[in-house]
Amino acid sequence: MAFGASHLSLALSLVALALAGVAIYRNTYEAMNMGLQKLSPNFDLSESSVSILTLNNNVDQQNSHKLSQQSPESCVFSAVRGVVDSAIDTERRMGASLIRLHFHDCFVDGCDGGILLDDIAGSFQGEQTSIPNNNSVRGFAVIAQAKQSVKDTCPNTSVSCADILAIAARDSVVKLGGQTYDIALGRRDARTANFTGALTQLPAPFDNLTVQITKFSDKNFTVREMVALVGAHTVGFTRCVTVCVSTNVNPAARLSCNCSVTQNNTNLQQLDTTPTVFDKVYYEDLNRNQGILFSDQVLTGNTTTAAIVTTYSNDSNVFFGDFAAAMIKMGNLPPSQGVQLEIRDVCSRVNPSSLASM
Ligand code: HEM
Ligand SMILES: *[C@@H]1O[C@H](CO)[C@@H](O)[C@H](O)[C@H]1NC(C)=O
Ligand SMILES: *[C@@H]1O[C@H](CO)[C@@H](O)[C@H](O)[C@H]1NC(C)=O
Ligand SMILES: *[C@@H]1O[C@H](CO)[C@@H](O)[C@H](O)[C@H]1NC(C)=O
Ligand SMILES: *[C@@H]1O[C@H](CO)[C@@H](O)[C@H](O)[C@H]1NC(C)=O
Ligand SMILES: *[C@@H]1O[C@H](CO)[C@@H](O)[C@H](O)[C@H]1NC(C)=O
Ligand SMILES: *[C@@H]1O[C@H](CO)[C@@H](O)[C@H](O)[C@H]1NC(C)=O
Ligand SMILES: *[C@@H]1O[C@H](CO)[C@@H](O)[C@H](O)[C@H]1NC(C)=O
Ligand SMILES: *[C@@H]1O[C@H](CO)[C@@H](O)[C@H](O)[C@H]1NC(C)=O
Repeated sequence: MAFGASHLSLALSLVALALAGVAIYRNTYEAMNMGLQKLSPNFDLSESSVSILTLNNNVDQQNSHKLSQQSPESCVFSAVRGVVDSAIDTERRMGASLIRLHFHDCFVDGCDGGILLDDIAGSFQGEQTSIPNNNSVRGFAVIAQAKQSVKDTCPNTSVSCADILAIAARDSVVKLGGQTYDIALGRRDARTANFTGALTQLPAPFDNLTVQITKFSDKNFTVREMVALVGAHTVGFTRCVTVCVSTNVNPAARLSCNCSVTQNNTNLQQLDTTPTVFDKVYYEDLNRNQGILFSDQVLTGNTTTAAIVTTYSNDSNVFFGDFAAAMIKMGNLPPSQGVQLEIRDVCSRVNPSSLASM
């Protein structure tokens, strides 16, 4: 039921996306006169309802004049989705990578776009080269492209890079077959990042259940929310260099990696049996003792978490609903107290100080 509805709204949204492009072209003058639109914190508007409204407007008014009433938020959602959809069409794994990028942003000092800041040799070491991220997180070019598309198509609308990450992750879940959820905009970007924070706050593949529960509870997640969030491993891949280390891997897992050689191996191991589809197969794999990471398989070694795994493996609607709710909660993790915030102009670097108060 929820699954069918999300596909319907996706289809309507895609139609609306095409129409929105026309609207923006025709109404540039009006849009130009709207002045600078800064998205307010906690703005919460259902994307699908906006899309349906836009579609109806167009049906009623063939001249599509009312399309100029497309809200700035709706323009941002359309622009990001267009870029994300086409990136995933080009490379299906990119959806998984964008979901993980948002997770690694939010779990380190909140959803502040910190992970997007490039290192500056000699003066700034950010999160990208911290061990959980180094040579592993991906999707930076897609986020940069989405930011550019927002600038190009939503004139004078100011949206943070942290917001773009949240939208991109949600759109990836949907594109790969999962359930949609609403995203409130209004996140702001930090003027710094936390190399050490990435190392200590993110869970590691060798973490036992106790450590995993502690790291998630530090972010106020329940055990059930944790088991739901890790279900993101229903999509994507791990590098062989990760799973060729015995403490990182479920010893019973049948790996596709050739671990007899440990050079600069760029080969990949899929994280579940169906790595390009957002489904409940990850949990089914766990119940067959075929989870890939050590951290994955320990979920079946405790009666509490094992029961949750079984619940999800039994009913994808329960998993989808819990995952969506937990992603919304994760996407609202607040930045650290006292950190300077801004709406970044270029996602990979802080604004020149003249723009800092935007
Ligand atoms: C105990 C918690 C977790 C641990 C220990 C963990 C660990 C890992 C590791 C080691 C990889 C492979 C990295 C590599 O080899 O380059 C990975 C991939 C991935 N993780 Fe997690 N993860 C956890 C939770 C999560 C959560 C909460 C999400 C998202 C909500 C997530 C999403 C992903 C995705 C989608 C991939 C595949 C990325 C790609 O193919 O590019 N993970 N994770
Ligand atoms: C990150 O990976 C590069 C190799 O791509 C390596 O030279 C560098 O030392 C790594 N950085 C850290 C902090 O481990
Ligand atoms: C950076 O991370 C460390 C370790 O988690 C934490 O103690 C510190 O408060 C973080 N810094 C900021 C500015 O959030
Ligand atoms: C889990 O790992 C931590 C850190 O390595 C360790 O201190 C603890 O004893 C482990 N707990 C269990 C139950 O294995
Ligand atoms: C977790 O909740 C407590 C109590 O409401 C709050 O003080 C703390 O900031 C929250 N932590 C995070 C990471 O949101
Ligand atoms: C693994 O790689 C080694 C070294 O390249 C090679 O000799 C061996 O045949 C490979 N094994 C498999 C199963 O492909
Ligand atoms: C591994 O990568 C490093 C740096 O990228 C390179 O110098 C080295 O030759 C590579 N080693 C192998 C065995 O390919
Ligand atoms: C399972 O984990 C729960 C926390 O969710 C803990 O209270 C319980 O002691 C663990 N049980 C076993 C058998 O390890
Ligand atoms: C599995 O799902 C069915 C309905 O979908 C339900 O009747 C049954 O109780 C569930 N079993 C478990 C173990 O959750």
